[in-house]
Amino acid sequence: MPWFGLGVYKVPEGEVALESVKMAIKAGYKSIDTAALYENEESVGQAIKESGVPREELFITTKVWNEDLRNNSVEEAFETSLRKLGLDYVDLYLIHWPVKDKYKDAWKVLEKLYKEKRVRSIGVSNFNIHHIEDLMSVAEIKPMVNQVELHPLHSQPELRDYCKKQQIQIEAWAPLGQGRLLDHPVLQEIASGHHKSIAQVILRWDIQNEIVTIPKSIRESRIKENANIFDFTLSSSDMEKINALNENQRFGADPDNFNF
Ligand SMILES: NC(=O)c1ccc[n+]([C@@H]2O[C@H](COP(=O)([O-])OP(=O)(O)OC[C@H]3O[C@@H](n4cnc5c(N)ncnc54)[C@H](OP(=O)(O)O)[C@@H]3O)[C@@H](O)[C@H]2O)c1
Repeated sequence: MPWFGLGVYKVPEGEVALESVKMAIKAGYKSIDTAALYENEESVGQAIKESGVPREELFITTKVWNEDLRNNSVEEAFETSLRKLGLDYVDLYLIHWPVKDKYKDAWKVLEKLYKEKRVRSIGVSNFNIHHIEDLMSVAEIKPMVNQVELHPLHSQPELRDYCKKQQIQIEAWAPLGQGRLLDHPVLQEIASGHHKSIAQVILRWDIQNEIVTIPKSIRESRIKENANIFDFTLSSSDMEKINALNENQRFGADPDNFNF
């Protein structure tokens, strides 16, 4: 999968989603991360069609929402997502959250979709180590990806080590801390040294750590800025300084204690 892509959480369906995804594809993005929850799959699908880029050159991720795990309607949810996207397969389908007592059944449905070649890869999101271990006790196919909250203040070292050993690709959501990390003094110092922005430094830190990253923006200048991270390298001392910022600080919900 591409190391870099566009996230579209909270991007409103319609003109805004349509235009931001088109701008991103025009700027060279190959990967788009949506979800049934985001209610913008139709605009994402329309942008893909209008982009003029062949579908097979793109990598499209969507996710099944918790309600469909609780209602045992994962397969129907997948059909709905596919119809809204206007695609005949997705590149990656994820279980959005580890809904207690439900995610193992959901995984069986994802395995079936994978075997039927309706999805090119399957994975999970917001899974801690114990959720993955539990899932693997029934899985025929290992999750290929785990998409989790991951940024310099919550860099998830144990989970990353575990996933690396299990050959599960880690993907960062909220890589920019949802915008809250963009005035951090340590990051600012590193960014100034490279004549780059803090956002670019964080995204480069992801890439050098072999973390797939999907920053969200609806602004053309930032969409381009965020993608412009392949012309510089952080030194090992820069990497260590950023690694040392971890405080296990989440901005989003805790996968062991969420109420949605
Ligand atoms: N699996 C999950 O449970 C889960 C949860 C959350 C998110 N996600 C996925 O991960 C993606 C990324 O996470 P996120 O959207 O929560 O947060 P994020 O990418 O960390 O941050 C997005 C915020 O930063 C701003 N921003 C982006 N680039 C910037 C730049 N270069 N300079 C200054 N500000 C910048 C954006 O504003 P503008 O748009 O105004 O530029 C937006 O407010 C989501 O869109 C979604 O696809 C998944």
